[in-house]
Amino acid sequence: MVSPPCVSSSIGDMKLVILLLTCSLMVASGANFYRDFEITWGDNRAQILNNAKLLTLTLDKDSGSGFKSKNEFLFGKIDMQIKLVPGNSAGTVTAYYLKSEGTTWDEIDFEFLGNLSGDPYTIHTNVFTQGKGNREQQFHLWFDPTKDFHTYSILWNPQHIIFYVDDIPIRIFKNFESKGVPFPNKQPMKIYSSLWNADNWATRGGLIKIDWSNAPFTAAYRNFMARACVIWSGVSSCASQSLSLPSMSWMAQELNSTNLEKLSWVQQNFMIYNYCADPYRFPDGLAPECGFA
Ligand SMILES: *[C@@H]1O[C@H](CO)[C@@H](O)[C@H](O)[C@H]1NC(C)=O
Repeated sequence: MVSPPCVSSSIGDMKLVILLLTCSLMVASGANFYRDFEITWGDNRAQILNNAKLLTLTLDKDSGSGFKSKNEFLFGKIDMQIKLVPGNSAGTVTAYYLKSEGTTWDEIDFEFLGNLSGDPYTIHTNVFTQGKGNREQQFHLWFDPTKDFHTYSILWNPQHIIFYVDDIPIRIFKNFESKGVPFPNKQPMKIYSSLWNADNWATRGGLIKIDWSNAPFTAAYRNFMARACVIWSGVSSCASQSLSLPSMSWMAQELNSTNLEKLSWVQQNFMIYNYCADPYRFPDGLAPECGFA
């Protein structure tokens, strides 16, 4: 367990808030995978390299691998650059998500479903609130995500959750708590990622299996950046937020008209599945938020 060096327990509340704000700024400065993450499974299949600037996960026949953040967050703009498994990645899934604890957990998911060489990756997204998901949207991409690193971001503030790819919004989940839809705004979440064998469902619904002759499969991570409220001993760095701080502007960030156009460009051209457009799966009615603007 590594403690942020900037917190001491004897200080008064107000000072703690300010110090914690400083801590969240520190999280933002310069990626260091040793400082910010721990390997959770897969032994040496997960590796931190290049002065802790690079992390790689691998999957072989015996096991996948994964990591999680040391810090817990409650709201933030969290960026990670990922280069996905190249070549024939069919049957592999690289999951990258935020998740809280317990049986009524909240979760914000990116999952990258591999494919045969030349066939497109699928980005699968989901939002769980109070332990309930079933809010999948899936997309293809406008580039090959295995050739280079690309930035996958989650903007999570009290108004909405926005998924971005290279700063282009692909999905927005708005806070409709006032209309009875639970929104993740109370439970702190950690960041998780894993590379694993999901060939029972991932590629063309499980039709295409992993070709182990291509193993080990590798995904790479770099330039992690969290502008986020870090929860430390139950206290949020946002307890008394100052939105005028430049580091906090994401807390009030909305989509402007340019970004709304980008979002609809993605949704019209690259969305391949939308839970809000699947009455066959939900014969008793679509999720209520599907009917709200
Ligand atoms: C794989 O490629 C097929 C054919 O283009 C496509 O329908 C599918 O969405 C792709 N992704 C996955 C995960 O199956």
